[in-house]
Amino acid sequence: MDTYNVLLLGNGGREHAIAWKLVQSEKLGALYIAPGNPGTAQYGKNVELSLSDFDAILSFIRENNIELVIVGPEKPLVNGITDFLKKHDVPVFGPSQKASMLEGSKEFAKEFMTKYKIPTADYSVFSSLDFDDALKFIQLKDTYPIVLKADGLAAGKGVFICHSEDEVKQRLLGIKKDKTLSEAANRLVVEEFLEGEEASVFVISDGHTSHVLHNAQDHKRAGDGDTGLNTGGMGAYSPAPVVTEEILEQVKSEIINPTITGMSLEEYEYVGILYVGLMITADGPKVIEYNCRFGDPECQVILPSLENDLLELFVATTEQRLDEKTIYLDNKYRCCVVLASEGYPLAYNKGMEINGLDEVDEDAIIFHAGTAEKNGATVTDGGRVLNVVGSGNTLQDAINHAYKNVDIISFENKYFRKDIGGKGLRRIG
Ligand code: AMP
Ligand code: GLY
Repeated sequence: MDTYNVLLLGNGGREHAIAWKLVQSEKLGALYIAPGNPGTAQYGKNVELSLSDFDAILSFIRENNIELVIVGPEKPLVNGITDFLKKHDVPVFGPSQKASMLEGSKEFAKEFMTKYKIPTADYSVFSSLDFDDALKFIQLKDTYPIVLKADGLAAGKGVFICHSEDEVKQRLLGIKKDKTLSEAANRLVVEEFLEGEEASVFVISDGHTSHVLHNAQDHKRAGDGDTGLNTGGMGAYSPAPVVTEEILEQVKSEIINPTITGMSLEEYEYVGILYVGLMITADGPKVIEYNCRFGDPECQVILPSLENDLLELFVATTEQRLDEKTIYLDNKYRCCVVLASEGYPLAYNKGMEINGLDEVDEDAIIFHAGTAEKNGATVTDGGRVLNVVGSGNTLQDAINHAYKNVDIISFENKYFRKDIGGKGLRRIG
């Protein structure tokens, strides 16, 4: 039997979940994770490599006979790691630089959706030099809320929902002043506000054939009841009852199929995971954003539900053989609660000792995100520290299971949302 030596890039809860799933495959040879975290170290060897140093990554690949590279986060994809490695004949799971523009440039994504008649919010684009024009346009429109989006990657900090003209003015000024944002906001998308409930659908595509893996709902705001600052995601559950069979069919025919076909017609074949962020509106599902990778923490609830061999799926994708595959899911609900450091997404302390990791239920899964090993102890080392995943035959059971295990783990400054999955419960009634 062929086995594959794999290099997985990334260091979050998402990559821990991918590593956890990969080691269930009989086809896995050696697994290396760069840079990884103490969670991924349980399944393979963590290696110190910078994800922006493509030459160093290539040398490592050559020295260790790596046969497949899996890219977790968006940044190396948008920076072209797939094209670089493919040029050197290394098989990579992840979209090319051009295809990653679906996430890397909101302007590109909006133009693409308009061209292929994919439902999304109405929009206009302005260059940073014409923020005055953007303001005039918004004043003329005079409809609030209105959404401002920096065109480029902004680590979740580039979207502003403004409720008044004053807020728009403040935000425009803020974007100009903020050095980290002003580059991403070289172009600014002004977008209609969509009313509805959000959900995400995850697709695996080899450029021609695509399959829906599963759907989930993230909780982006820091506080209960969707209040407070935007974060990378404070928890997720899957499946989301708002994604009914009927909605899913509509998403496939009106969004996923035209996206994969459209990208192929543009000669930007989409190979990898496509994350379709949706607003389920009264007029049906509309795209809020595309991402060119798994969501974090959505990945942590999706992969445990997947019965397929993930490595086989990834290899079939890179060999354009997804038409041979069918996706199998167990029929369970999953709920992931993110344990964060108090203060996240702003300033927080690190280095707090974590207790209770060995005491959780056998069937609860703990994925590491921002942790480190220090003198034999596991300590906090980031804003999002751990992911606690519970499962059950009902959404309520999955939520109870997750929270029961949340209580077993302790560290100073532990913070988490208490209402993960609540929207789903309300919808089921
Ligand atoms: P994005 O980075 O594009 O996903 O935007 C971050 C968050 O802003 C989304 O998860 C939504 O909650 C919200 N958002 C973005 N665009 C819109 C929109 N057009 N209407 C309503 N909410 C939006
Ligand atoms: N959880 C949102 C994201 O991964 O973009």
